[in-house]
Amino acid sequence: MQLVRKLIVGNWKMNGTLPEAQSLIRQITADKPWPKNTDNPPLVVLCPSHPMIHPVAMMLDGYDWLTIGAQDCYTQDIGAFTGDVSAMILQSLGVKYCIVGHSERRRLHNETNQVIAQKILCCQKRQITPILCIGETIDERNKGATSAVLEQQLQESLNFEVTNVVSSLVVAYEPVWAIGTGKIPSKQEIIFAHQHIRKIIMQHHLYRRITPVILYGGSVKPDNAAEIVCGDGVDGLLVGGASLKASDFRNIIAACIQ
Ligand code: 13P
Repeated sequence: MQLVRKLIVGNWKMNGTLPEAQSLIRQITADKPWPKNTDNPPLVVLCPSHPMIHPVAMMLDGYDWLTIGAQDCYTQDIGAFTGDVSAMILQSLGVKYCIVGHSERRRLHNETNQVIAQKILCCQKRQITPILCIGETIDERNKGATSAVLEQQLQESLNFEVTNVVSSLVVAYEPVWAIGTGKIPSKQEIIFAHQHIRKIIMQHHLYRRITPVILYGGSVKPDNAAEIVCGDGVDGLLVGGASLKASDFRNIIAACIQ
C-alpha cells in the first residue's frame, strides 16, 4: 500500500514581525521534528502575511519538507487594486499553496463563495494549489445543517468553467466554532465531514480527475493532533495559534508520523 504524505499547514494569520518569524523558522528547522528513519515525512507549508513571504521563502529554500504558502489572494491578476496581492505576484515569489475562503475573510471582508470561486481559479491558473476553507458556524451546527452548509460552500466555490486549469485542490474543514476556541468536533464528526466533502468533490465534473487532499483545522494542538490526523480520510492539518510556537508546531508535525 502506498503511504500518503500528510500535509500540515501553519497559518500565522496577522502575527509576528519579521525578526520573530525568522526566529520561529530557525527553531522549527533546528533539526527534523520527527525521529530518524521516517519513511514518509509530512510536507509542511508555512503561510506568513504577505510582506513576509519573500524573506520566509528564502529561509525555506532547500528544505524538502517545508514550503511557502500565502493566506489569501485577489480575484484579478493585475491592475488598479490598491493593497491587494494577486496569485500572479504570489507565483513570482515562489508560493506553492494559497489559503482561500478562510472564515475570517468571509466574516471580516464579506467574502462570498462566488468571490472565493474566482480566487480558486486565479490560483489554478498560476499553478498554486488553493487551500479552500469551509465549515459551519455554531448556529448551523446546532440546527443540524453542517452537511448542507459544507455542500453549498463547495458547490458554489468550485463553480467555474475553465476545465483545463484544474490541477490540484486542498480543502480544509474548519468548523468556525472550533477556531481559536479550544473546542473540536468528535473524531467521528471529523471523519464524517471529511467523507462528505470527498464525496461532493469527486462528484464534481471538473474535479473527477484529481485526488483532493482534505485537512482538518480548528484548535489543533500537540495533544489532539495524533488522534485527529489518524482519522480515516484526514490527510493533514491546518494549524493556527499552535503554529506560532515552535515546540508546539514541531510536536504537531511529529504527531503526524504514523
Ligand atoms: P486555531 O488553530 O488557532 O484554532 O486556528 C485555526 C485556523 O483558523 C487555521 O486557519
